[in-house]
Amino acid sequence: MSQQLVHVKIIINEKAYEADIEPRLLLVHFIREIAGLTGTHVGCDTTNCGACTVILDGRAVKSCTLFAVQADGKKVLTIEGLAKDSKLHPIQEGFWVKHGLQCGYCTLGMIMAAYQLLMRNPNPTEEEIREGISGNLCRCTGYQNIIEAIKYAAEKMRGGVS
Ligand code: FES
Ligand code: FES
Repeated sequence: MSQQLVHVKIIINEKAYEADIEPRLLLVHFIREIAGLTGTHVGCDTTNCGACTVILDGRAVKSCTLFAVQADGKKVLTIEGLAKDSKLHPIQEGFWVKHGLQCGYCTLGMIMAAYQLLMRNPNPTEEEIREGISGNLCRCTGYQNIIEAIKYAAEKMRGGVS
């Protein structure tokens, strides 16, 4: 039985994407397959890994656990929208400088979670950073260099690192 399609318009990284979709389509699949932005990943089917994290209207969300229709008319920021004029965002730079990634599969989610954390708390303690990324799993790094990357970014965003 074919489902009725719903027309949606989602603004991703300041560009509008419109499509007729099934109501059951997950936001992560809209982002990857309709918008073609494959930096956002899927690492589980139970909402625990965070590899699908994006910013929806200013809040970090797991895009595998929202329907695309729930984002209709809203603004989404994905990893592809962070760099400006080919210049890395300080969080991206921090992951590079501090070796906060290996396979890179979790990296986009870690960066988006860190983005929300630093928007809310520009000077987090190590404990607050660990808590802030506790919805994001990494199988490679052991987390320590991710913490260093976020500390680096926080300092740079506060104007401390040139
Ligand atoms: S894919 Fe694992 S939490 Fe979304
Ligand atoms: S760098 Fe491989 S999962 Fe985090």
